[in-house]
Amino acid sequence: MSRKRDPKNERGDGLPLNASESDPDRAPKKFKSALGSGDSDEQSSGLDQFLPYPIHKVNRLLEPGPVLLVATGSFANKTHNIMTMGFHMMIQHEGPTLVGACIGPWDKSHGNLNKTGECVLAVPAVEMLEKVVDIGNCSGEDVDKWETFGVNPVPAPDPDFANGSGDRKGAEEDRARAPLVGGEGIIANIQCVVEDGALVARYNLWVLRVIGAWINKDMDLEYGQEDQTPGDDGGSIGGGKLRKREMNMAHHRGDGRFVVDGQEVDMRDRMVKWKEFQD
Ligand SMILES: Cc1cc2nc3c(=O)[nH]c(=O)nc-3n(C[C@H](O)[C@H](O)[C@H](O)COP(=O)(O)O)c2cc1C
Repeated sequence: MSRKRDPKNERGDGLPLNASESDPDRAPKKFKSALGSGDSDEQSSGLDQFLPYPIHKVNRLLEPGPVLLVATGSFANKTHNIMTMGFHMMIQHEGPTLVGACIGPWDKSHGNLNKTGECVLAVPAVEMLEKVVDIGNCSGEDVDKWETFGVNPVPAPDPDFANGSGDRKGAEEDRARAPLVGGEGIIANIQCVVEDGALVARYNLWVLRVIGAWINKDMDLEYGQEDQTPGDDGGSIGGGKLRKREMNMAHHRGDGRFVVDGQEVDMRDRMVKWKEFQD
């Protein structure tokens, strides 16, 4: 993995930087005012539950290895589907941010991913674990899992909104993308496109590029928005007080048993070589 951050913020692939990459610390503040607009469409869609999250920090969501939900297909075309995934890994912090995901041809989601070239990785909190397991024990071929398990698909927001360009709700073509996974039990949503499918035939391994990331606004924001320190509940978003709550991830042990986030051990002062990742 590439641990070094490009000091010039250039990722070298010619693509424009998402603002949450180029200026990650400002993006959340922009959102506070945007959320304050009280857009009722946004509230009804469920997007108001989430704030933008800096793309180059999604490793803080995935490095712990939580069990994930994967949304694929198109919300607008009603081909959206959801599955459970335990096999995934961070590949590269940024330039661009890359994640590896194993999604096999036995999953309907595999066909969706092949067709649209994009997906959303959602990090569920432990409160959702029963649903997460049930979602991974049936197929979208047989049931509408959104309906069956009462999971709310949120139309894809425009990832560029974090940049000050684009519309938070997204253009029609954005809304046709895989939806975010809504609900208070979702810690984060990570919007991805397929960067490299060369290893799919051999290993079912999709190399995904992260194009947008959204964090639950109730999440304890050690996760990157440092003007809101843990325990600081004085912030105001959307006219309401920030509620900080503990949202623990669940980690699959491979056989239907899980371990849940427990006590944090803070070793940051020993991370002498990697200070750049502690902002
Ligand atoms: C805890 C758990 C972890 C799973 N991990 C993966 C995985 O990493 N890759 C995969 O292809 N399937 C995995 N599955 C199985 C899929 O979630 C399952 O085949 C799913 O129901 C496919 O749904 P679909 O046919 O609607 O796409 C997992 C299931 C569970 C319960």
